[in-house]
Amino acid sequence: MYAESHARIRTDDRSPEDIADAALAAWSDASLLVPLGARSYPVRIAVSAPRALADEVAAMDPSSVFVVTDATVRELWGASVEGALAERGLRPSAAAVIAPGEQSKRLAVVEEVLSKMIAAGADRDTVVVAHGGGVVSDIAGFAAATLLRGVRWVAAPTTLLSMVDAAVGGKTGVDLGPAKNAVGAFHQPSAVIIGPSHVATESLRAFRSGLAEVVKSACVGDAQLFELVSREAERALSRDLAVVTEIVERSVAVKVSIVSRDERESGDRALLNFGHTLGHALEAHGNWERLTHGEAVALGMVAALRVGCELGVTDADTAARVTRLLADLGLPVDLAREPVDDARKLLTLDKKRRGSSLRAILLRRIGEPLLRDMDMGELSSLFARVATAEPPPS
Ligand SMILES: NC(=O)c1ccc[n+]([C@@H]2O[C@H](COP(=O)([O-])OP(=O)(O)OC[C@H]3O[C@@H](n4cnc5c(N)ncnc54)[C@H](O)[C@@H]3O)[C@@H](O)[C@H]2O)c1
Ligand SMILES: [Zn+2]
Repeated sequence: MYAESHARIRTDDRSPEDIADAALAAWSDASLLVPLGARSYPVRIAVSAPRALADEVAAMDPSSVFVVTDATVRELWGASVEGALAERGLRPSAAAVIAPGEQSKRLAVVEEVLSKMIAAGADRDTVVVAHGGGVVSDIAGFAAATLLRGVRWVAAPTTLLSMVDAAVGGKTGVDLGPAKNAVGAFHQPSAVIIGPSHVATESLRAFRSGLAEVVKSACVGDAQLFELVSREAERALSRDLAVVTEIVERSVAVKVSIVSRDERESGDRALLNFGHTLGHALEAHGNWERLTHGEAVALGMVAALRVGCELGVTDADTAARVTRLLADLGLPVDLAREPVDDARKLLTLDKKRRGSSLRAILLRRIGEPLLRDMDMGELSSLFARVATAEPPPS
């Protein structure tokens, strides 16, 4: 087997026409490779995602297949995946259908998923399919990481946020009480199959939350993506499939490039946390209910930009452009209305903290980030200052 291939097609028991069709589909889909040696895997942005998913899973020659999904995704999209798997002769041994939402991201739910898999006879050649948003991929990936000390899994993300962020990169895990993502494992998927058309049924608020991560990716790694989203904001918001597909492709490319340089977040992977320092604190302060993740990250990016301006790293024009785009996308940008003072107290919960120091992610220009180790007290005071200061002229 070639570890570094963009798509795999199983040929046994299939007609030449069928194989040619599958090869053509694989060839016409955009595909990226996450190059991690023996753990390399393809990320395929597929026009016909259920079929691409079934092809990929079949090529892995699994002893059994388990689908993890949530009730909403199953209702809307489950039949298409089950149908495509069945066409390849793959009948999932069991499906774990979790309750939608962040409150499912608990160890107890992982235990339920694992119990189901063991009861249905899972072995080391089992493949877990994660069909859903970031909550599903975090749970399914973590279950796959721990089942029999690690089985293969494939991510089939269904929200914009999970397509551009959660499904790629191998971070899996759950929350422990109020500690977000406190328990988990690095466990790379064997493939990621993205069907951008899934975003059609997402709520507008969830879709916008994904757009915040797209803007983040553009800021830290792709100035052209920033131009694209600025130019096509309206079409993006109306979920024009061509625009969404291009945005997903470019955002995934940013993540792939960063993850392949730094799989375990000892350096550059921190760039993906642009806007997340104050963002996480605001999200936690609102008990993960008042703000979506993307809304919190949008506010966090505005804060990081203004901190950059204060430190002479970011120019006012860059800060204004990013802020304007976020606002155009319907994301919150008004820090003065946020409980920044109280949220600052939660910065100590930041997983990236090292003693009293935090690595701040600042922006020189769009596409040019800068990591700077800062004293937490200093960063916290700067957040307080920029939250009440006049915004930069736009
Ligand atoms: N592991 C990582 O690297 C990583 C990165 C970013 C985020 N995350 C995690 O991802 C989670 C957030 O992801 P999310 O926003 O996808 O959350 P989610 O999985 O909770 O999905 C949001 C909501 O949308 C519904 N949904 C999903 N797909 C849908 C579709 N196509 N149509 C209609 N409804 C749909 C879900 O049922 C849910 O109610 C957080 O827990 C976050 O910590 C992980
Ligand atoms: Zn994020």
